[in-house]
Amino acid sequence: MTIEEQYVDGLFQKDEVLERIRQATVAAGMPDIAVADGYGRLLTMLVSMNGVSKALEIGALGGYSGVCIARGLQEGGSLTCLELLPNFAQVAKENVTEAGFGDVIQYIVGDAKASLQQLVEQGERYQFFFIDADKEGYPVYLEYALKLAEPGALIIADNILLRGRTVNENKQGPAVQAVRAFNQTIANDPRLSSTVLPGYDGLAIAIVKG
Ligand code: DHB
Ligand code: MG
Repeated sequence: MTIEEQYVDGLFQKDEVLERIRQATVAAGMPDIAVADGYGRLLTMLVSMNGVSKALEIGALGGYSGVCIARGLQEGGSLTCLELLPNFAQVAKENVTEAGFGDVIQYIVGDAKASLQQLVEQGERYQFFFIDADKEGYPVYLEYALKLAEPGALIIADNILLRGRTVNENKQGPAVQAVRAFNQTIANDPRLSSTVLPGYDGLAIAIVKG
């Protein structure tokens, strides 16, 4: 983290609930890669500002971002989380239940592309998407989000800088190439109105035009 990011994070009181989830996630042997605290706050704000009642997250990890999203939902709203690994989904479910969101957040375990295809076939629609799973999948996840989006929906994606690999010409692996393509679509697709924040590991924010 930069010294400026540390300064900004230091302005805020520690969030006991989120801090506990970060610790429990690491204690469960999962990587310490939950979304940055500042972006977690932004997720809550964006969900709340847009009056979201149906949200979809791709990549649950230990439930940190799930709680951030759930905190902003309208009364009676719901968050569906797609998670590849059953043990990650189990840890996330325990963490979000302890945080008081067990009834709000549901998990669908398995390959997200298959789950997304099923949600399309079921005619589901969402007002908010958070993409934070395998980076190679980002372009496909974005297309599915567009299929599942209500007009005016928000699509957010974490880690679009890949710790600098995105802007390093020597890096040409599949994840880097996929994220570069994803970023180009975010910036240029006529179906979207977007911005990209370069702080922390980069966050894409797009509105699906109505
Ligand atoms: C990393 C961070 C993330 O937030 C993520 O979703 C995947 C990987 C990382 O820093 O390696
Ligand atoms: Mg991430």
